[in-house]
Amino acid sequence: MAMRLAVLISGRGSNLQALIEACADPGYPAEIGVVISNRADAPGLMRAVAADIPTIVIAHRDRGEFAAEADMRLRAEGVELICLAGFMRLLDTNFVEGWRDRVVNIHPSLLPAFRGLHAQRQALAVGVRFTGCTVHFVRPEVDTGPIIAQAVVPVLPGDDEAKLSARILAAEHRLYPLAVRLVATGRTRIVDGRVEIDGWQAPDFAKLNPC
Ligand code: GRF
Repeated sequence: MAMRLAVLISGRGSNLQALIEACADPGYPAEIGVVISNRADAPGLMRAVAADIPTIVIAHRDRGEFAAEADMRLRAEGVELICLAGFMRLLDTNFVEGWRDRVVNIHPSLLPAFRGLHAQRQALAVGVRFTGCTVHFVRPEVDTGPIIAQAVVPVLPGDDEAKLSARILAAEHRLYPLAVRLVATGRTRIVDGRVEIDGWQAPDFAKLNPC
């Protein structure tokens, strides 16, 4: 049976779109049961509507209030895995602990480098030659938690924040569906704070890093 996902967004929702497209394949081991946004004007909500996925807007005035309402709605929807996809608010610690190992996030850097906002700008400022994106299980501290999958992206001469962000985003759209597939098929196990993946083969990495 397909694992039931909730996708939490705040904005554009291009990673949501990548997950919608992955879930459209009948062989994909997950389905999106609900999309939750903390902003009523998030463009990503229209992507959910277009795909006939129920949407819920929960205003994020108070962290605790948001967590209580989100928790109630997620349980009512029978959600098994929460995917943060450009969800721009910190989640309440109790919420994260209550959903421990059932919340994943995508971040536009090779964590633990460049946590927080403007990860691409941080990468350009330091002058790294490679950066990328990471999907990880969520822990209360921002952009921390056991790493499921990462994709490497080169930083090229002449890159500005927009160009680098676009290159990383293309990698994100491949990485997130792959990481969710690993979780949904039960291939991930957290051991000593690290993710072990059953049957992970070297060619799997090549799929993520066409460069
Ligand atoms: C992505 O870069 C993601 O890594 C970060 O926020 C951005 C969301 O983009 N957490 P989108 O809303 O999925 O297009």
